[in-house]
Amino acid sequence: MKIDFAKLQDQYQLYKKEIDEAIQSVLDKSNFIMGEEISQLEESLQHFTGAKYAITCSSGTDALLLAMMALDISSGDEVITTPFTFIATAETVAFLGAKPVFVDIDEKTYNIDATKIEAAITDKTKAIVPVSLYGQPADMEVIQSIADKYNLKVIIDGAQSFGSTFNGKTDSALGDISTTSFFPAKPLGCFGDGGAVFTDDEEIAIKMKQLRVHGQNKRYHHKYIGMGGRLDTIQAAILNVKLKYYEKDLKLRQEVAKKYTKSLSAKNLVLPFVDNKATSAWAQYSVRVKNRSSLQDKLKEVGIPTAVHYPIPLHLQECFKYLGYKKGDFPISEIVSTEIMSLPMNPYISDDEINYIEKELI
Ligand SMILES: Cc1ncc(COP(=O)(O)O)c(C=O)c1O
Repeated sequence: MKIDFAKLQDQYQLYKKEIDEAIQSVLDKSNFIMGEEISQLEESLQHFTGAKYAITCSSGTDALLLAMMALDISSGDEVITTPFTFIATAETVAFLGAKPVFVDIDEKTYNIDATKIEAAITDKTKAIVPVSLYGQPADMEVIQSIADKYNLKVIIDGAQSFGSTFNGKTDSALGDISTTSFFPAKPLGCFGDGGAVFTDDEEIAIKMKQLRVHGQNKRYHHKYIGMGGRLDTIQAAILNVKLKYYEKDLKLRQEVAKKYTKSLSAKNLVLPFVDNKATSAWAQYSVRVKNRSSLQDKLKEVGIPTAVHYPIPLHLQECFKYLGYKKGDFPISEIVSTEIMSLPMNPYISDDEINYIEKELI
């Protein structure tokens, strides 16, 4: 058997007719930049997430930048986040001249350990950026109460978690600003780069819309230093089709996760843990194993692809050497990064495939 990790082609085939028509319609109109498909998508995203404002943009990375720029995060500011995430979470903080301050993760959810945040707050702290890793929001109840107590902003990096919830609200509707990514392999993916920011705050929404088009508040009038951060109309057209079926896809991902957990529970693995206040969008189904490298090789030989999200925690990355962290500073992130391994995850994995993975995963 040869298993596909994300089954992007299967998904395309499933919705091919509608997607092809949606793309053709953009080609026929040639409204490639900011066509009406963009505002249609933004309305649907607002409806789906419960956020008052959804603003699409060019990627999950640019979504983080737009959010941070809207809150004026810049030189002299500190931003608290997790070291166990994709580089973009902290890269954007540093890109704006601010300082990423890391806090170790919770051993069960792999998200920022909310109980350790308070100790990292200084008078320079401006914001907390929790990441909803693998699809599950961090403990937003505790994080929001800390933010309220110290008057800090919260930006949720929801690149992996579109459609997830915490205490019944989607993680796009939490925090001051929430972001997501439409990278093809994300739970809701387009056919290239894409992303979105969400907020309930009208002023912030207007500012992010302007920042997205070079800080422009009127044609060729630039209120802010902004960026070229628009989503392409073609990507919006594709997402308009895929979003219609997303609730179904999300349920299928949750069923796949349940099946994995049932079939792997007797194995010598640490399985994913979802807090009872949260639901996950299951961007990844990641397990912890002791012999990762040899197991990955063995699985590859029998047609089972795996991935590592992420092998090096951010405080040990070369680009962040200047921050002065060292090995041992965040022990849970460090141990999890040596053991974590993601199994094929998508809405269309068959029972036969799960049984095969169970049989081969020793
Ligand atoms: C946690 C996290 N943040 C940010 C990003 C950046 O998103 P994009 O690739 O759309 O720029 C990703 C994408 O992998 C991610 O996983």
